[in-house]
Amino acid sequence: MDNQNYIKIKEGLANFYIHKNDAEQIPSKSMNVFYNKRMIINRDITILSLLAYQNLYNQKPITIVDSMAASGIGSIRISLECKGIKKIYINDMNPITLNLIEKNLHLNQLNNSNIEIVISNKDANFLFSEINQNHMLKSDNSGKADVISIDPFGTPNIYLDAAFKALKKSMSLICITATDTAVLFGIKPDACFRKYLSKSLYNEYSKEIGARILLHFTARIANVNRLGIIPLLTFYSQHFIRIFCLTFKNIKKINESFDNYGYIIHCNKCGFRRILNYNIINTELECLCCNSQNDISYAGPLWVGEIHQKEFIELISELNQELNLPNKKRLAKILNYIGEEINMPFSYYNVHKLCKELKIKVVPKLENIIEGIRNLGYQASRTHFDFTSIKTNLNIFDLKNLFHTNHFK
Ligand SMILES: C[S@@+](CC[C@H](N)C(=O)[O-])C[C@H]1O[C@@H](n2cnc3c(N)ncnc32)[C@H](O)[C@@H]1O
Repeated sequence: MDNQNYIKIKEGLANFYIHKNDAEQIPSKSMNVFYNKRMIINRDITILSLLAYQNLYNQKPITIVDSMAASGIGSIRISLECKGIKKIYINDMNPITLNLIEKNLHLNQLNNSNIEIVISNKDANFLFSEINQNHMLKSDNSGKADVISIDPFGTPNIYLDAAFKALKKSMSLICITATDTAVLFGIKPDACFRKYLSKSLYNEYSKEIGARILLHFTARIANVNRLGIIPLLTFYSQHFIRIFCLTFKNIKKINESFDNYGYIIHCNKCGFRRILNYNIINTELECLCCNSQNDISYAGPLWVGEIHQKEFIELISELNQELNLPNKKRLAKILNYIGEEINMPFSYYNVHKLCKELKIKVVPKLENIIEGIRNLGYQASRTHFDFTSIKTNLNIFDLKNLFHTNHFK
């Protein structure tokens, strides 16, 4: 193969080639084979999540499906940086990827490794169906995947059903990226309703709303397949959301998990928010803070339960300290905020927006606000969705009062 047409890059423990003319482009669908340097953090968090998943939930050798692999960089890093991989499917529908993936496997000496590597050039849904069908013909559980990664351009919605069918029923891990943030974050509400069956909302906490719409949609498609999900990590960065969810198959528990589905009601007049569960028939849509009835909006259905799992987050934070991943420092900061978010209420308040609304000229430091609220006996934390926002169980009325009375000096 003519190496002049490629450039060699290093990422994590992997060396790999990308097409030379792709290296000069802004990452887009029109590349020969997609590669985006800004998504290194996506692959880093995937490595950490896989290691934590193996440690906490699945110590047997695992089968992974990287269903949209592009250059194969994600799979190659997993093969080099994780242990206990039995088999890995490296797939991409784009026919040009095949040669590049083979070349990159060779470069990293993975063609002779102990891992069974299956390279393919199929539509992801076709591959998932094939895995499911092969499993049915074999009549044991060995053919199905422990881990499936879905990393498309835009929405992952059309891949979830087939993916759940190709996953082992219990204790499997599904890793899903969505880059259609304008859709999930309320800028394109019609598209959100069409793609995720939920109403989005554009406001100061729309990133969290979007992540919860994706979780709810994933949970419902899992339910259709007689599965439930437990969100282990919900990760937002720059222009994408990636969720990591564990599956379970106990029907009673699945029915109990419906408590995680609901709506968020938002008063546009005073900014008060509250959560409603799925049964909204008897709910008065009146703001419990300013009693407004005319200026209420809502988002949902969406996931109103926990979006991260404490043990999982603690372990990936530890692993991040131990390893030397390319985004170690940035991840440490994000994971720290994610750790703070656990058990905190849904939604957050942007401090700059609040100060502008209250005509407060000097924005207090976030640390002072958080400490001030905690000293009053309420919860307060940062959020990884927005570095200039806070989460708190204090209501908007009391929060504004504290700002008014200059409590956070
Ligand atoms: C965002 S890129 C994936 C990036 C890759 N995971 C990485 O870490 O570099 C999306 C890839 O999905 C592939 N793709 C798009 N639709 C697909 C489908 N239906 N089945 C399989 N692959 C698909 C594209 O060819 C493209 O390479």
